[in-house]
Amino acid sequence: LRAEAARMGILLDDLLLLARLDAAEVEAPLRLQDADLAELVGQAADAFRAGRPDHPLTVLAGPGPVLLPMDPLRIRQVVDNLLTNAAVHTPAGTKVSVEVAVVPGAAEVRVADTGPGIPPDDRDRVFDRFYRVDKARSRDRGGSGLGLAVAQSLVRAHGGRIELTSTPGATVFTVRLPVKDVRPAER
Ligand SMILES: Nc1ncnc2c1ncn2[C@@H]1O[C@H](COP(=O)(O)OP(=O)(O)O)[C@@H](O)[C@H]1O
Ligand SMILES: [Mg+2]
Repeated sequence: LRAEAARMGILLDDLLLLARLDAAEVEAPLRLQDADLAELVGQAADAFRAGRPDHPLTVLAGPGPVLLPMDPLRIRQVVDNLLTNAAVHTPAGTKVSVEVAVVPGAAEVRVADTGPGIPPDDRDRVFDRFYRVDKARSRDRGGSGLGLAVAQSLVRAHGGRIELTSTPGATVFTVRLPVKDVRPAER
């Protein structure tokens, strides 16, 4: 009963967040502040290693601090959703990696896994609310099918976008957050 209540709570939180992001003109749901994307990803990686020991994680060497205006709790939620997917939608032992990169005009987070991948016909639809590739199997893995919809809405609310490339053995979600002024140095 407690587990079910927790699941319902998460579902409700996701639905409320999506509704607030949909109504963003009325009420901006983000609390923007300058935050270090590299540090945030490092913390998400630590949490992943603690919680998902059966999915070896590599953090690819970052460019040092990457300060940009964001809602750090929400971007953490995006990264957590992508990392969770890399664990729950792939077999145990599947390698996962996360990388922060600075590209012209933007900062990127790439979450990659070596799992079975997402079939071409499903690639656009996985961002739809409640869409799951394998309806029967995903259920016992705790997903409601809202994780990527929430991630995409949050990234769009930051003016960014999420891209997906996937072949068997190489699935990569790239979050691109635009910045006028990325400061990778200042160490
Ligand atoms: N890394 C991944 N590898 C394989 N399939 C994935 C991956 N990430 C997402 N998917 C597919 O996309 C669907 C939607 O993901 P999401 O919105 O997070 O919902 P949920 O995880 O709750 O099922 C998943 O059900 C799964 O079928
Ligand atoms: Mg998910």
